[in-house]
Amino acid sequence: MTAVANVRILDQRTPEERDRPFLPGMGRTWLIPLYDIFTRVAGVRALHERAVELAGFEPGQTVVDVGCGTGNLSFAVLAAHPDARVTGLDPDITSLRRAARKARRRRVTLTLVQGYADRIPAEDASLDHVVSSLALHHVDDDGRVAFAHDTLRALRPGGKVTIADFGGPTPNAEDARHATHGHGSAHALRHLPRLARSPAAHNPAVARNLGDGIVALLAEAGFADTREVDHVDHRFGRITFVQATRP
Ligand SMILES: C[S@@+](CC[C@H](N)C(=O)[O-])C[C@H]1O[C@@H](n2cnc3c(N)ncnc32)[C@H](O)[C@@H]1O
Repeated sequence: MTAVANVRILDQRTPEERDRPFLPGMGRTWLIPLYDIFTRVAGVRALHERAVELAGFEPGQTVVDVGCGTGNLSFAVLAAHPDARVTGLDPDITSLRRAARKARRRRVTLTLVQGYADRIPAEDASLDHVVSSLALHHVDDDGRVAFAHDTLRALRPGGKVTIADFGGPTPNAEDARHATHGHGSAHALRHLPRLARSPAAHNPAVARNLGDGIVALLAEAGFADTREVDHVDHRFGRITFVQATRP
């Protein structure tokens, strides 16, 4: 029997959020059509597959992919676990529409929500897992803290969060200084298209990922067993995989 795609896009933004700025996948919304080609060439698929391996999903789990963009991490989850119930969250409707088209082609079930990382689209204690790849460095400081707290709220006790993003231990402080100013290797994926220049592109959030930034963010929100579970030295910078559990 041929599977039937069940794909929908929901707008979860409040009226105030409709004008809220965000940094899209390649810095400019009109570059989104190139996003999948660029990330495929850059070998990002392997990062998604590693994140899924590390997440260790169990059958039928409920998963939210924060900053899902064009949906590639969500598709990696569904490829490995077709019975997972996956929701992708992103403020960028252009990326969400691409994700929806891809989901229909793949005949998978995927819910896409237009919204921000600080409001996870789920009831309290209802999710098994929150995943996110290459998105946290797009979120400003207040948004990151709110993301950590809201993820804790939405996960059930024992639920997990798995994050893959630029960051983790750096060889020296100079790297962190460069990242703060948007010119470090850890920033390169965002800055490869030099057109990707916007006020948001220069926020210091990526520097907050460096060292134990993501680990500390989650631990301070109240997560348990928060740690880097792997890292990859990607050509565009060090990718850290951080995992934590809701107590
Ligand atoms: C580099 S892309 C990563 C997309 C996808 N996760 C992947 O691995 O290919 C970063 C994504 O973060 C999204 N983003 C930016 N600000 C956000 C926010 N405040 N909350 C949630 N997502 C956000 C962007 O729209 C973009 O889709």
